[in-house]
Amino acid sequence: MEEPPLLLTSLLLLLLIFSSTSFSASPPAPSPTSSHSPVPPKNSSSSPLSPSASPSPSSPSPSSSSSSTLDPKQLTALQSLNIPTSRDPCTQPSLVRNNITLCDNSKPFRHLLALKLANCSDDVALSFTALKSLSTLQSLQFLKCPIAPIRFPADLAANLRSFTAVASLRRLTGVWLARLQNLTDLTVSNVQVNASGPFVILGNMKKLRSVTISYANLSGSFPRHMSPNLTYVDFSGNRLRGRIPSSINRLENIQTLNLSGNALTGEIPSTIGDLISLRNVSLASNSLSGPVPESFSAIPHLVHIDLSSNQLNGTIPRYFTGMKTLKYLNLANNNFRGVMPFNASFISRLAVFKVGGNDFLCYNRSNLSSKMKLGIAPCDKHGFPMSPPPARDSSEDDSNDSDYDDTDTEESNHKDHHHGPNKVVLGVAIGLSSIVFLIIFLVLLSKCCR
Ligand SMILES: *[C@@H]1O[C@H](CO)[C@@H](O)[C@H](O)[C@H]1NC(C)=O
Ligand SMILES: *[C@@H]1O[C@H](CO)[C@@H](O)[C@H](O)[C@H]1NC(C)=O
Ligand SMILES: *[C@@H]1O[C@H](CO)[C@@H](O)[C@H](O)[C@H]1NC(C)=O
Ligand SMILES: *[C@@H]1O[C@H](CO)[C@@H](O)[C@H](O)[C@H]1NC(C)=O
Ligand SMILES: *[C@@H]1O[C@H](CO)[C@@H](O)[C@H](O)[C@H]1NC(C)=O
Ligand SMILES: *[C@@H]1O[C@H](CO)[C@@H](O)[C@H](O)[C@H]1NC(C)=O
Ligand SMILES: *[C@@H]1O[C@H](CO)[C@@H](O)[C@H](O)[C@H]1NC(C)=O
Ligand SMILES: *[C@@H]1O[C@H](CO)[C@@H](O)[C@H](O)[C@H]1NC(C)=O
Ligand SMILES: *[C@@H]1O[C@H](CO)[C@@H](O)[C@H](O)[C@H]1NC(C)=O
Ligand SMILES: *[C@@H]1O[C@H](CO)[C@@H](O)[C@H](O)[C@H]1NC(C)=O
Ligand SMILES: *[C@@H]1O[C@H](CO)[C@@H](O)[C@H](O)[C@H]1NC(C)=O
Ligand SMILES: *[C@@H]1O[C@H](CO)[C@@H](O)[C@H](O)[C@H]1NC(C)=O
Repeated sequence: MEEPPLLLTSLLLLLLIFSSTSFSASPPAPSPTSSHSPVPPKNSSSSPLSPSASPSPSSPSPSSSSSSTLDPKQLTALQSLNIPTSRDPCTQPSLVRNNITLCDNSKPFRHLLALKLANCSDDVALSFTALKSLSTLQSLQFLKCPIAPIRFPADLAANLRSFTAVASLRRLTGVWLARLQNLTDLTVSNVQVNASGPFVILGNMKKLRSVTISYANLSGSFPRHMSPNLTYVDFSGNRLRGRIPSSINRLENIQTLNLSGNALTGEIPSTIGDLISLRNVSLASNSLSGPVPESFSAIPHLVHIDLSSNQLNGTIPRYFTGMKTLKYLNLANNNFRGVMPFNASFISRLAVFKVGGNDFLCYNRSNLSSKMKLGIAPCDKHGFPMSPPPARDSSEDDSNDSDYDDTDTEESNHKDHHHGPNKVVLGVAIGLSSIVFLIIFLVLLSKCCR
């Protein structure tokens, strides 16, 4: 496509037109670097054994020779789980790069420390013998692996430090999870967990530092006792009910507390102010009532506060304006009343601020312009809303999605690539013909003007 005699400007024009018409449809010069690398271990590229592999070790991997290779028993177990093992799984780049396998350096054979099973095909099954030979694992992840769970061998349960099940293992019980007593990290999400409460699961996990049990249909109440070493607790999207216990202040190292989307009732305990390490907290979408406790103001480094969609009442505390690190404040859809105590400079400092859906809350027109679209009415001189809140319910709903703006735009960008083949051909045709015309035009122009 080189046109040597053309002026620089014409080249630029060409580029512009070309890119706007046909680039999004089909890149003119496809570069080989754009191929996507992550290859899920969907099914074995080598010779897969039957799902219920017998413990008799097959011949070890014939490939490498220099450093030690994976224990043949573990290799067999991996094959039974449909992990492609055409080369040594400890060094195979597609496995190592995606954190599917991680091995130690022991001799004569290496052993697995971490294993990730993702996007499993239907014919994968866990067998006790396979898991027994994988007992060296300290980290085990199941992502989109809807296979049937089985009882873990005691050695494996004792060694595991990190366990993850996301949209996997069909259904778990509290008793099953509670056996993993040496865990420091537990993540269970989008898996049904049948337990009478979180305490059944976590009661004996003394070393636990991070726990997520979300969208698990988990019932029961928030535990009165949990390991004080916890820094991260996410129980969002379950059926927890009852009060938040005042003994929550024993979680003195907690940095993230997410109890959103449960059925919690009662007031927020004032002891929450003792959680001085707390940064991100969500109690959203419960049935909490009463005021926002004064003690919140004692927490020095709060970044993210979401108390939306409860029945909290009283006035909104002014002390939020003193929180220097605050970036996200959502108080929407509660029963707050009176004059909202924030001015424009505070609100604009935040990445997200929401107060809509509080019918008796209003803003002072001397301090805030109606252009801020807060979803609440201006105050009269007595501090009551002047009129029913303006019709901004829809804009409020829109702004609810603003947290996800990044991903949304990414997705919509991707969607832009979905053009029908006819449109592609048309675009290229139009682009090319306009280029030809432009070249002719410019050549004529440059000739006649000289
Ligand atoms: C699983 O599949 C999804 C797409 O369906 C992909 O985005 C993801 O990277 C895969 N996960 C792994 C670990 O291969
Ligand atoms: C491997 O995956 C392909 C497509 O995902 C499928 O058609 C094929 O049956 C699978 N083979 C095995 C052995 O699972
Ligand atoms: C693999 O794990 C390391 C350490 O946990 C992490 O930094 C890296 O992002 C992971 N890579 C992938 C592809 O998940
Ligand atoms: C936890 O690990 C220790 C050794 O690190 C082991 O002695 C103990 O039995 C394990 N606990 C359980 C319940 O498996
Ligand atoms: C949950 O466990 C209880 C007690 O073990 C049992 O009665 C109940 O049927 C289980 N529920 C489900 C949905 O599995
Ligand atoms: C907290 O963790 C430390 C070190 O990781 C450990 O020594 C201590 O026993 C843990 N605390 C509890 C209550 O388990
Ligand atoms: C959640 O648990 C309840 C009671 O155990 C049960 O009736 C309901 O079907 C479960 N929900 C799902 C989505 O499994
Ligand atoms: C709490 O969990 C919900 C749903 O899992 C999530 O959307 C929200 O961002 C989380 N909030 C915090 C503070 O982690
Ligand atoms: C805490 O909240 C901030 C602001 O919303 C967010 O950027 C950050 O990722 C959150 N941190 C954690 C650990 O969830
Ligand atoms: C807040 O609601 C509780 C009941 O949920 C009620 O007892 C209390 O009087 C209310 N406080 C205010 C200031 O409206
Ligand atoms: C906004 O409020 C903060 C705290 O109440 C105050 O320090 C600041 O001066 C106010 N800014 C304006 C422009 O009124
Ligand atoms: C609104 O702000 C002005 C100036 O700061 C103040 O004089 C007035 O009393 C406030 N109105 C209400 C209802 O608080």
